[in-house]
Parts: sequence; structure tokens; C-alpha cells
Amino acid sequence: MEDPAINLSSKTDLSVLATEESSPILEIWGKQPLKGDVKISGAKNSALAIMAGTLLCSDECRLTNVPSLADVNSMIKILSALGVKIKQDGDILDIDGRNIGHSQAPYELVSQLRASFFVIGPLLARLGSTIVPLPGGCAIGTRPVDIHVRGLQALGADVHIEHGMVHASVKGYQGRLKGAKIYLDYPSVGATETIMMAATLAIGETVIENAAQEPEIIDLADFCRSMGAKIRGAGTNTITIIGVDRLHSTDFPIIADRIEAGTFLVAGAITYSEITVSNVVPDHLIPIIAKLKEVGVKVVEDSPSCLRVIPGELTATDITTLPYPGFPTDMQAQFMALLTLAQGSSIVTETVFENRLRHVAELKRMGAHIRLKDNHAIVTGVPFLSGAPVMATDLRASAALVIAGLAAQGKTIVQGLHHLDRGYENIETKLQKLGAKLHRVTQPTVEQILQTSVCV
Ligand code: EPZ
Repeated sequence: MEDPAINLSSKTDLSVLATEESSPILEIWGKQPLKGDVKISGAKNSALAIMAGTLLCSDECRLTNVPSLADVNSMIKILSALGVKIKQDGDILDIDGRNIGHSQAPYELVSQLRASFFVIGPLLARLGSTIVPLPGGCAIGTRPVDIHVRGLQALGADVHIEHGMVHASVKGYQGRLKGAKIYLDYPSVGATETIMMAATLAIGETVIENAAQEPEIIDLADFCRSMGAKIRGAGTNTITIIGVDRLHSTDFPIIADRIEAGTFLVAGAITYSEITVSNVVPDHLIPIIAKLKEVGVKVVEDSPSCLRVIPGELTATDITTLPYPGFPTDMQAQFMALLTLAQGSSIVTETVFENRLRHVAELKRMGAHIRLKDNHAIVTGVPFLSGAPVMATDLRASAALVIAGLAAQGKTIVQGLHHLDRGYENIETKLQKLGAKLHRVTQPTVEQILQTSVCV
């Protein structure tokens, strides 16, 4: 991507650039050893699904350990647009969905947050009909929702897409969904969550086969069960739900974010620093710990909720992303940053999303040796990375660039921080407390630069 500053000569560029808002950047000075402990926040991908799940409840709900993230804020806006009353106090959300109407989640909000589509199951189960904007694709893929739709149709809903809106309604059975046996073509996390939530208020039994097994699915099932839902088998590939008439209030803590924890373990490994991550569930990190061990990095349990990374010389290994309990796609970019400094050649294969290798170009700007072939990246270790201005293309790519910047010689400037802020709570503060040298600065707009130069 060309640096717009280079084209300052022509007026057109100025007029275009001048309207841009000043966007913050992260300046990172690499090769600082890290030390100490980082407390991991609540899981983004659990919080978002469970927030949608509160729409199932005819009472008030309290969620705790909710991370403070841009995506959570977007979901709060979407739920509020549906008539939900939400009070946020730190990591506590008090949610009152007693008076949700037939209003729609506005497209401009849904388009910013794909996870907002998860509201379709609960709304259909609670109200008997709903209209939800069809979420578009994003940087990592087209992200279709056909498995969600087929699941809702199997539960007796009439679902059709018109002008970019998904219309769903239940005919008969007093507007209630009816339990069914549903086989998922792919163990989609979102589709499993949509169907499981919808089935909690359906008439009769629903069995989801080839279900996703991620820890966030278990957390959502635990949340629904805490409201009185009857669910068993979450965390396996077969989930059984017996519908009930109503779900009651609950006070529920969100699990720790295994991807944030994995990101910090890799940050310790790449800077050869012995750090600990606390408030974690070690079992959720088994694939990440196994792969770290393969590259020469030990991870030990200091306590049932605290892991310590013990760095070592990095040697190459191969990574293939798979549905849980396989290696998580959400850790692929961060692990690739680590492999750029591992001795030998590693093959990273992304099988979950069709366009989740865009961080390769940016890592190469920092001196990484990576060759792309279809959905494979062949990473040949180099002795060092060099700091450079880089552009984040998606959430986990932004984390990978921060990790690479921590290890690189010199200064790295990471742009596109809106991606990072979607999924990492106070990441700069957490890294600064560990001894990293980085800070967020707001780039002046071109206008501000020109005004300064005119004054001078
Ligand atoms: C969830 O996305 C997570 N997001 C993603 O985390 C995560 O990468 C993904 O699961 C896989 O673990 C949230 O939970 C909010 P999928 P989701 O449905 O539910 C295809 C992050 O970085 N598919 O399991 O959208 C789909 O195209 C984010 O935190 C269909 O074809 O993931 C993809 O190729 C990124 N049809 C594959 O399945 C469908 O109806 C996996 O998608 C649904 C999915």
C-alpha cells in the first residue's frame, strides 16, 4: 500500500487526505525483554454470543468479566436498538430484554459486527418472527450464513433473504419453533450457537450433530443452562437441547479469552521473556501449548489459572488451523510471527477462512521470508526482523504485527488500530506493564500538518 504522504504534491491527494480523520498508530520499539504477569480479560467470542443469548431471557440478566472492547460496544448498540436496556459498569453488564420489540438491528451496526447476526436465533425463539440484516463478508472471508439459515429452517422457521435482509418467521405451533435433528455440513461456531439458542425455547428435542466444540460453545450452553435451559453435550460434536417455555434471570461470568492468553504466550516466546498469564483456563490452550512446545518453548502451570512461558531457541514446525480441538485459526497470524524467527522452514496452512493470510505481506515488510502457495505459507526463519511501518488488515493480523514489532530491531509503526481494538482490551497498557516500549499516538491530519507548516 503506497504511503499517502509520498503523494503530497498533487492537490487531489491533499483534498482526499485532508478529510481523513486523524487515525491513531502504535509505535513499538522492539527487543525489550518482558517481565511479570498479565491478567487475561473475558473472552470476546463468548461475550458476544452470550450477549445475544440474553435476548432469550424474559427477565434481567447480569454478565460479569465482560471485556471492554469495540465489538462489545457495537453489540451493546445493537441490543439497545432492539429495545434492550443495558447498564455497563466496568466489566459488568446489566441487561434487561423484557421489552424487546419487533424493531430491526440497523444495517450500519450489523455491517460493523458480524457476530450481531447471532441475535436471529434468540429473536425468532422469543418473538416468533424477526428481520436481521444479512452480514456482509469481511477481510478474512465471505463469511456466509447458510448453515445458520438451514438450521433455523429445520426448526420450522420460514427463512428467506430479500434486499439484503434475512426474514425469519414461524408459522403454526403458536409461533414456536419445533425441535429437530440437525446435521451441520461444517462445525460452524456461529451456526452451532444460533441453532442451540433458538432450540432452548422450541417445542421438543433438538439434536445438533457435527456441532462446533469450541470452549465458547460450552460457555454459551452454561449461560443458557443458568437461565433454566436444558442442554447437554456442549463441547462434543453432538448437542441435545430439550425446549422449555421460558428462561429466567441469571448472573453469569464470562470465561477467560484463550486467544488473548495465547497471544501473550507468543509475545513472551518471541521476546525470549519468562512471563505469566493469569485468570486463564489452561485446558482451553492445549493446542497452543502443544505447538509452543514443538517450537522449543515450554509452558508450565504455576496454578490452575496461571500459565508461565519459559522461552527457548525457536525451531520450525508446521501449523494447520482446524475447528476445536485443532489449532485455532484465531492464533494463526500470531504464531506465524513467531515462526518468522524459528530456525528452519515451517508450513502454515489456513483451512478455516479463505483469506486469512493477509498479514504475510506486512510481515515481509519487516524482513520475514514467507512464500505463499494457495492457503499455505512457507515461513523460512530469519535471524532478525526489522521495524517498519505496517498496516493491520484484520483483528488477528494486527496482533501478529504487534508481536513482530516487540521482537524487531528498531521501531515498528502499526496502523489500522481499529482492528486491534475490536478484540484486545488495553493491550498497550498490558504490554507496557510487562516492560514493552510502545505507545499509541494520534497521527495529525494533513490539514494539521499544513497548518503547522504555514505557521512556521
Ligand atoms: C467464530 O466466527 C469466531 N467469531 C471467529 O473469531 C473464529 O475465527 C471462528 O468462529 C472459527 O473459530 C465469533 O465467535 C464472534 P464459523 P464464525 O461459522 O462463527 C464457514 C476472531 O478473530 N461457514 O465457525 O463466523 C465460514 O465461512 C474471529 O475473534 C459457512 O460456510 O466462524 C468459515 O469458512 C474471527 N456457512 C467456516 O465456516 C455458515 O453458515 C468457519 O466459520 C457459517 C460458517
